[in-house]
Amino acid sequence: MCRHLAYVGPPLPLARLLVEPPRGLYEQSWQPRRQRHGTVNADGFGVGWYPADSEAAVPGEPGAAAVPGPPAPHGPAPHDPAPHDPAPPVPAAGGPAAPAERPGDEGAAVPARYRRALPVWADPNFAELARVIRSGAVLAAVRSATEGTAPDESAAAPFRDGRWLFSHNGAVPDWTRLPTGLGSAELLSLEARSDSALLWAMLAGRLRRGEPPGGAIAAVVREVAAARPTARLNFLLTDGRTIAASAWGDTLWYRARPGAVVVASEPDDAVGAALGEWREVPDRSLLLATTEGVRVIALRPERKDTTPMSDENQSRFTLDDRLPAGYFTDTLHADVVGGLTAAPRTLPPKWFYDKRGSDLFEQITRLPEYYPTRAEQEILVRRAPEIAAATRAATLIELGSGSSRKTRLLLDALTAGGTLRRYAPLDVSASALEAAGRAICSDYPGLEVSATVADFEGGIPLSDEPGPRLLAFLGSTIGNFDGPQRAAFYRTLTRSLSSDDVLLLGADLVKDPAVLVRAYDDAAGVTAAFDKNVLHVLNRELGADFDPDAFEHVAVWNAEDERIEMHLRSRVAQTVKIPDLDLSVDLAAGEDLRTELSCKFRRESLTAELHAGGFTVRHWWTDAAARFALLLAVPN
Ligand code: AVJ
Repeated sequence: MCRHLAYVGPPLPLARLLVEPPRGLYEQSWQPRRQRHGTVNADGFGVGWYPADSEAAVPGEPGAAAVPGPPAPHGPAPHDPAPHDPAPPVPAAGGPAAPAERPGDEGAAVPARYRRALPVWADPNFAELARVIRSGAVLAAVRSATEGTAPDESAAAPFRDGRWLFSHNGAVPDWTRLPTGLGSAELLSLEARSDSALLWAMLAGRLRRGEPPGGAIAAVVREVAAARPTARLNFLLTDGRTIAASAWGDTLWYRARPGAVVVASEPDDAVGAALGEWREVPDRSLLLATTEGVRVIALRPERKDTTPMSDENQSRFTLDDRLPAGYFTDTLHADVVGGLTAAPRTLPPKWFYDKRGSDLFEQITRLPEYYPTRAEQEILVRRAPEIAAATRAATLIELGSGSSRKTRLLLDALTAGGTLRRYAPLDVSASALEAAGRAICSDYPGLEVSATVADFEGGIPLSDEPGPRLLAFLGSTIGNFDGPQRAAFYRTLTRSLSSDDVLLLGADLVKDPAVLVRAYDDAAGVTAAFDKNVLHVLNRELGADFDPDAFEHVAVWNAEDERIEMHLRSRVAQTVKIPDLDLSVDLAAGEDLRTELSCKFRRESLTAELHAGGFTVRHWWTDAAARFALLLAVPN
């Protein structure tokens, strides 16, 4: 049922967004890849776009052409209460031919639309216009009509009201009898006879009353879902500066960099990472985007029963995306340029972990040679009750939680102790947080799960968690940092924690180098594949031409610094090209790229560096074979 896309950013030819990208909206009209319902979207299409600021004018007033428009693309922050001008609650003005003119819209850029009731590929005029029309704010849709709705172009999105453009992807069963609360004037001025036009009238009414776009979408979604639980309600709304969207029954994705954002039903294969990596929005979410950033907020169905008792069993999951727009592209570019031009050459380990890399790491944790996961698990099984008793934590914060598997041991103990109210995992992977968070939500009734997408290297986004808080950093991920990075990390931690909070840290210990090397160079070659995965990531994200077979995976024990280092060793003299960075790297035969540090620790020195960093170690536990340590530390 339809695919749609919205863009806010620097002006572009419409074709660049809609027609040119492989698997873009144009192709999605006949072969969408991820659409959950229906097949082709051949019943119509439409595009709405905003004129450039200098062209912004009140329609019908030729002299107004010089009036400057709103300062696009810098919109208000998503939570500003009134991101559009409040207007008096007048009934819907005009049909498709006459955009609403209200006092609040003076000087605002009223968008133009081009809509047809035929498949987009059957209209050669569209491709031609799209080549030359440029805009910094666009909303487009391809339509698959639901039975019983108008077949003509009036029913093709985008719908419009004043500055607002709207599209709906989905369907509402038995929509002609949906209770809407609309008056007869509003019903009579529906843009078309369709469920989408009806939903738009409900939403536009709220916007006209001054409700912010996110709140209005959430309210309409909840209201309709309460009456029609199987309704699919993916909304897309823009005023030319901000984009608001819901994911409710079908797919939704976005990509962003500072100054530009695209929100679409599904990702295209546009080459280059100029707009950042595509990211999926979990179902039942609200997305709020400006050119400054994107927020994704979990949407829960309206609760019929609001007695305090039902709160106990209500699963409570929120996902807050705190990564700045363009995080992936910007940090990837900086890391790769910095690392590959340094001597020796390095690549930071965080780029191992795309979907395939995360799967490979899961496999590593089950390898016979890779003992750290099992050793830490052994300690947690034995010590979790002590940890719960010693901390009486109300919140468990977990850094780099990944799949949250070991977390359950802590959650069980803290739940049994009766103190725990909230679990707050932090990770850079929204998809890992989503999957693990929802599973934990349903397994621990009464527990609030507030997940945050963040890179905690720059600081730990904590806010109103009930204390005392237990902050867990497990798996010896601390070993990925060298000494100065660890010192900086401890400083960041002490700034975020208060005196009754506790740190739970997992650390792998120094041992026979042969055991260590085997753990990082297993017989089955899983770690080698994991190591080389970073090359696949660079090839995909930056258009690089690394040949993974031209590199050998090597795990070296650095005895002086007491750490395992993973290297990718060039088997031959070769030149690697990275077009997106304008970089070409000459590698000698036998030259190494260092991809990961995995520092190993001793009790004395780790206790000392923690003390210097602001923490006193209160408990130090190891597994029976003393391979791995788990420690509890409190702020000095
Ligand atoms: C996830 C960083 C703890 O260093 O042991 C496993 C990653 N690298 N095998 C580690 C890893 C190769 C792992 N950490």
